[in-house]
Amino acid sequence: MNAKEWLTKAKKEGFAIGAFNVGNLETLEAIVAAAKAKKAPVIIEASPGESSFMGYNNLVDLAQNYKDEGVAIILNLDHATEFEKVKQAFDAGFDYLHFDGGQLPFEENVAIAKQVVEMAHPKAVMVEGEVDHITGSSDLHTGEKVASEQVKGNYSDPQKAREFVERTGVDTYASFIGNAHGLYADEKRLDLNRLKEIRQVIPDTFLSLHGGSGVNQEDIKAAIEIGVNKINVNTEMRNAYRKELEELLRTSDEVAMYKLYPEIIEEVQKVVGEKIDLFGSAGKV
Ligand code: G3H
Repeated sequence: MNAKEWLTKAKKEGFAIGAFNVGNLETLEAIVAAAKAKKAPVIIEASPGESSFMGYNNLVDLAQNYKDEGVAIILNLDHATEFEKVKQAFDAGFDYLHFDGGQLPFEENVAIAKQVVEMAHPKAVMVEGEVDHITGSSDLHTGEKVASEQVKGNYSDPQKAREFVERTGVDTYASFIGNAHGLYADEKRLDLNRLKEIRQVIPDTFLSLHGGSGVNQEDIKAAIEIGVNKINVNTEMRNAYRKELEELLRTSDEVAMYKLYPEIIEEVQKVVGEKIDLFGSAGKV
């Protein structure tokens, strides 16, 4: 099944596919291990920074190796703000491209998103677009309340979303309804009424929810019921990785680092496995 077929299945059956960021091989192994254990499809995503570090072609080859083993993987370029980066991922063979023009003037955003769609669709590569900038960053915003981040950004305007989707033909719309990126002192709460309005005006477009770390679990379930089919998660995994690494370095003198990685992988896998359960995608492969 290709990316669009997986998202279509998720929309029809009312579940969300987790989109998990990778910045190193251990994290990739953790996602794959969770996908296998849960029999779940997964979106493996890397930002332009993560993709440059890992290597665009390496990511495509690594994903292909796991696809050959029967793991249902969609490889996604996450939050690319420049057409050149999107093209690089497209040329390398990514399955899904998120062009994030959320900080550009609307007309410029529309023009580039359209260009991405024209490039991607003939090869059945999916495109995600973003209009109202999703604030925050995939980091620990210790001591900071998420509300302070939220006010900095504009929540998605349903009418702008409709116009954007109609004019660009993107497959997925990245909604901003309180889902700022990162972990905060308090739980993120979602503006579910706004999500319903968005669903109503673009009923045939897939909806994504970025900032999947630290969101109230009931809100996640409700968002999936309303129509979110892709949920992006990064910070909780990064946090689990770092915590375990710190603990291992504190308690071990090992210099063959690969011998320490299985424990890190296990901790990150736990996070991914819990998200898969919450998103309802377990057992869908
Ligand atoms: O695209 C990546 C995500 O939106 C990650 O958000 O760091 O809050 O999990 P998060």
